[in-house]
Amino acid sequence: MTSRPWMRAALAAGAALWLVACEADGAPSVTTSPVGNVPSMLEPQGPAAADIAGLWWLLFWASLVVLALVLGLMGWGLWRRREPRELPTSMRGRPERDLPGGERTWVVGGGIVLPTGVLIGVLAATLSVMRSTANVEPSPDIVIEVVGHQWWWEVRYPGQDFITANEIRIPVGQPVELRMTGNDVIHSLWIPELNGKMDLIPGRTTSLILQADQAGEYLAQCAEFCGTQHAKMRLVVVAETSEAFAQWVTQQQADVAEPADEELRRGQQVFLGAACVYCHTVRGTNASGRVGPDLTHLASRRTLAAGILPNNRGHLAGWILDPQALKPGNLMPPTALSGDDLADLLLYLE
Ligand code: CUA
Repeated sequence: MTSRPWMRAALAAGAALWLVACEADGAPSVTTSPVGNVPSMLEPQGPAAADIAGLWWLLFWASLVVLALVLGLMGWGLWRRREPRELPTSMRGRPERDLPGGERTWVVGGGIVLPTGVLIGVLAATLSVMRSTANVEPSPDIVIEVVGHQWWWEVRYPGQDFITANEIRIPVGQPVELRMTGNDVIHSLWIPELNGKMDLIPGRTTSLILQADQAGEYLAQCAEFCGTQHAKMRLVVVAETSEAFAQWVTQQQADVAEPADEELRRGQQVFLGAACVYCHTVRGTNASGRVGPDLTHLASRRTLAAGILPNNRGHLAGWILDPQALKPGNLMPPTALSGDDLADLLLYLE
């Protein structure tokens, strides 16, 4: 083993890099989700996000210039040759408080004037982005209400008269307003590719404008610590053409049809006979609980359990039988069902 300090430092850095690489191609980590990788705010897909990314790059380049300037001056100060200076007799033995003229210019210019100028410039750029992202006239036809719960998102379309969960659909290219509040504690909705963060605060209504330039799925994350499952509080924004959006609205407005065959009827009975109905709503049946997500069109959603599981039969079964194993501390209790009952229930929910 070498004893040279720089060798040890290099080895430590190498080991750290190796660990990071292992994490990157190992088992699923927090950077993966049912709808793909966690998005980057540096790949904006809407006008507000583009403004924010522009501001980020401005800050990045400005700080790089300042860093280079400071390091350059430090280097220059360290390496330049300077004649030893005789202090005036009056100043010997006490700190050099009265700087000569040239050095005072450096201190005032580099220590006060330059930083003040840079900070004022950054403030002006920030205020301008805050203005441009807030002053958007949303399209009046669609207002979406979002309520933050521990740990899921209730999504209401009051004008269209239906409620869904953990998924916001918007038509592409139109600014749409979200009006948001919290049900229990403060949450924060962050859709990095579409806009900045906005808090959901109990007793208050906050507003966020969403506009996507292209059709696609945009992952959102709760960005305010709200309890043990804060990290598993995700949401998907689906932006689609106005025709597809209108179709989806019509489909969501419909109540659930009466079961068409015997198996579905049994499935519905399992659902209505179990504890499900106390917490969940399925429009068109007696189930009208409001504690958990509205399940009327559960099958049309991309994910389960607030963006943490793909919506398929296996995950749905696991979630019904033992939700606490998948997301400890959430409000849904485990449901004990026989194999047949579970199969019928899954069929019904699908
Ligand atoms: Cu909700 Cu963090």
